[in-house]
Amino acid sequence: MPGPPPDFWDARYAEPDLAYGDAPNDFLASVAVRIPRGRVLCLAEGQGRNAVFLAARGLEVVAVDRSEVGLERARAFAAERGVEIETEVADLENYDLGVEAWDGIVSIFAHTSADVRRDLHRRVVAALRPGGVFVLEAYTPDQTERDTGGPSGPDAVDITMTADSLRDELAGLEVEHLEEVERAVLEGAYHRGDAAVVQMLAFKPS
Ligand SMILES: C[S@@+](CC[C@H](N)C(=O)[O-])C[C@H]1O[C@@H](n2cnc3c(N)ncnc32)[C@H](O)[C@@H]1O
Repeated sequence: MPGPPPDFWDARYAEPDLAYGDAPNDFLASVAVRIPRGRVLCLAEGQGRNAVFLAARGLEVVAVDRSEVGLERARAFAAERGVEIETEVADLENYDLGVEAWDGIVSIFAHTSADVRRDLHRRVVAALRPGGVFVLEAYTPDQTERDTGGPSGPDAVDITMTADSLRDELAGLEVEHLEEVERAVLEGAYHRGDAAVVQMLAFKPS
């Protein structure tokens, strides 16, 4: 299976500081107002910074990740901030997203292999309710040449995404914003500078 093994993330999430900080991802924060009130699923949510932000906005949030250590920290972080989130330890390869179950699905640096991701994205389209919103930010292949964070090693490119791959994988959603950009990603100790990312905001047609 390409990409870091689960214990890589457990070790990172056992460090004293939140690996990606306590602030939500900038792109998510900039489009959060577009997510309808209701149930939101945060994919590969790690230590919960995005889930806590959305819960504080009054949304009902479920955070899923393969790392129990990460999600334990997410629950503690939610308690610290006085909000409620639900967490589920699961592998996205076989996680059941349901059908028309979510008003929003959020994918921020959800670093799975391309095989897992392609099938996951097909399930995302089915799992959104009509009018539901999909928000994604991820590194593109260009990021693998940089040392400011993101996938590294021989499988790095396989884990990255492009605007073209996302358009194909999420066919069935109406795209409002889909762009590859360079921007400063400053999130905790591990996302630390100018980065090559792709951003997507899309809707399930009503
Ligand atoms: C770069 S971290 C991003 C964490 C979080 N989304 C954030 O932005 O703070 C990537 C996350 O993907 C999770 N992950 C990778 N492969 C996974 C899989 N197959 N199923 C569930 N989670 C996975 C890891 O455990 C890790 O928490």
